[in-house]
Amino acid sequence: MTTIQKTRIAVLPGDGIGPEVTQQAIKVLDAVGERFNHHFEYCFAEVGAVAIDHTGSPLPDATLEACLKADAVLFGAIGHPKYDNDPDAKVRPEQGLLKLRKELGLFANIRPVTTYENLLHLSPLRPDKVKGVDFVIFRELTSGIYFGEKGTAADGQQAFDTCTYTVEEIERIARLAFEQARHRRGKLTLVDKANVMETSRLWRRTLRELAAEYPDVVLDFMFVDNAAMQLIQFPGQFDVVLTDNLFGDILSDEASVLTGSMGLLPSASIGIHTSLFEPIHGSYPQAAGEDIANPMAAILSAAMLVESLGMHEAAAAIRFSVQYILEKGIGTPELQPAIVYGCSQIGDLVAHLVADPKEEILLKAEKNSQRVSTII
Ligand code: IPM
Ligand code: MN
Repeated sequence: MTTIQKTRIAVLPGDGIGPEVTQQAIKVLDAVGERFNHHFEYCFAEVGAVAIDHTGSPLPDATLEACLKADAVLFGAIGHPKYDNDPDAKVRPEQGLLKLRKELGLFANIRPVTTYENLLHLSPLRPDKVKGVDFVIFRELTSGIYFGEKGTAADGQQAFDTCTYTVEEIERIARLAFEQARHRRGKLTLVDKANVMETSRLWRRTLRELAAEYPDVVLDFMFVDNAAMQLIQFPGQFDVVLTDNLFGDILSDEASVLTGSMGLLPSASIGIHTSLFEPIHGSYPQAAGEDIANPMAAILSAAMLVESLGMHEAAAAIRFSVQYILEKGIGTPELQPAIVYGCSQIGDLVAHLVADPKEEILLKAEKNSQRVSTII
């Protein structure tokens, strides 16, 4: 008799297109459950602008509690134009996300940047520059200038933000990055501003010391201003990129547009308590409720979630299905595909392909025969 594994997921759909893309990821998780004999149990909770509207807080206690009790968090998006246009708003949706990161101890934000062959023309770079690009950014997420001491003088004439790091904070994310590099192409690039900043010098020293434990990984260092250029000029040179909170915020957004398909990029935030998985795109309020948003980033975030549970076959099945659909020229409008599908149709299709292993075998056979025929 096989026992059914159970995983409790806190679902935080959030604002804008968050709810609709998250719904598609859930369809796919249910398909994984069906095929791999796994039971996903969902606990829905509010976060962001919608939570402010209902409770006055962007991260109500009940939401935090649900996350702490869960095995994983599936996050949609947060943000609403009414706050973007009001920098003086006392309560903001972003505060919910920052608090959640801190409370769950999510010190590592992991963003893979992957290219899809048939979408290269959507990149702002020449296709030959982005072809084969495949790297992953490790951004420190719970310290640095985001969380250091900050303030504004009483007369409003001066303000400050402080960047601090401890060796322990650097070491714990560096170890994850080294491990990742070891399982990839064996290269780790630390991005910093060590020619100016003390914290950057501490990052370098700590990384140099750790490197002795990972002799199979080549460690190199790059100043952040140079890295911003190199990402555009030669993005193919990167394998694993490690950087602090603020540099990581900026560089990961820069990196996300390289492949021309922001709607396809997932992320994972991991650390001390429950891990969180979210698409890297924002709440895109203009598209909310229109059924045009691309759910693939949310679906691929669900793939990272199942991967984190050790369900490698399930993660591969999700990725394969997404890739297959893209290769068939099917996608949401922003990909300018040959066949336009809505958000929920994409969710149905991925779920359908993931649910049935026979289907997958047929698709794989078809892919192979196509490959042969193009060679001939
Ligand atoms: C991100 C976002 C957040 C950040 C904002 C919403 C606080 O830009 O997840 O990258 O700056 O970390
Ligand atoms: Mn950001």
